[in-house]
Amino acid sequence: MKHIKLNDAVEIPIIGIGTNTYGKEGNQFSGTLRGDTEEVDWAIENGYRHFDSAQLYNNEEVVGEGLAKSSVPRENFFITTKLNTMDGYKGAEWAHAEIEKSLEKLQTDYFDSFLIHFPWDNDDEILEAWGILENYYERGVFKSIGVSNFETEHIDLILEKGDIRPVVNQIKSNVGNWNDELIGHNYKNGIATVAWGPLGGIEGEAEQVLSEIGEQYGKTAAQVVLRYQIEREVIVIPKSHNKDRQAESLDIFDFELTAEDHGRISSL
Ligand SMILES: NC(=O)c1ccc[n+]([C@@H]2O[C@H](COP(=O)([O-])OP(=O)(O)OC[C@H]3O[C@@H](n4cnc5c(N)ncnc54)[C@H](OP(=O)(O)O)[C@@H]3O)[C@@H](O)[C@H]2O)c1
Repeated sequence: MKHIKLNDAVEIPIIGIGTNTYGKEGNQFSGTLRGDTEEVDWAIENGYRHFDSAQLYNNEEVVGEGLAKSSVPRENFFITTKLNTMDGYKGAEWAHAEIEKSLEKLQTDYFDSFLIHFPWDNDDEILEAWGILENYYERGVFKSIGVSNFETEHIDLILEKGDIRPVVNQIKSNVGNWNDELIGHNYKNGIATVAWGPLGGIEGEAEQVLSEIGEQYGKTAAQVVLRYQIEREVIVIPKSHNKDRQAESLDIFDFELTAEDHGRISSL
């Protein structure tokens, strides 16, 4: 597994596994929990060590249970979770309580990385929330702190007024919406990009082009896209409810794309 060194020197595996529908009935985001940890168990067996969780997914306990019952020691896992700011920020007391719940559900006393899930329309509150993350970082409970779905102006706010630079910005980046401008802004500021929904948009003509590129290397369209992202140092967190496809997404370290491949993929 290749790792990326974040701006605080923490090393993050360049591929993690997405978990937002794991352990849920019908593999649906809004499904109720089934009570097993099948997809997490497969991911660990397949060799994934980086898990992308979030309070919003309402299944941190599924990820926590799967990791805790595995034979892999905690320090070999890289666990990310996120403060649920989808409906904004509900104050410091709320943030502290939600963070403590995440630690309990994920059965750990620290997170490798903790993110603010979404920005909202109140700079003072964003800075207050960031200050709380900084405090957990200083106490060693969060080994790294970052953001998700932040646009350039939100990044700039934290850079100007916060004390600690975010290590990552987790944003959408896939076929049809590579989000290159924002990736460039992250990069320029020493912030790594994590691509969510990395396998989106692989259909129609794009799928044809990607499959054609993949044929040269014996790889699928999905593998070509993931390889493209990691070759430009973008961290990916694909998700699958199928054990073989989980393995396939990890099997991208034995080929290299050419400059011409890059050109074709970037125009999709
Ligand atoms: N920060 C945010 O706001 C945010 C937002 C959305 C998602 N996320 C995170 O990003 C993760 C990934 O995003 P996502 O779950 O939306 O989508 P994704 O990983 O881009 O795509 C998942 C889809 O791709 C298929 N798939 C998986 N591996 C494949 C392979 N090797 N070949 C072909 N198809 C494959 C899956 O089907 P099968 O299951 O049938 O294989 C599923 O339909 C989430 O789980 C979550 O952790 C974060």
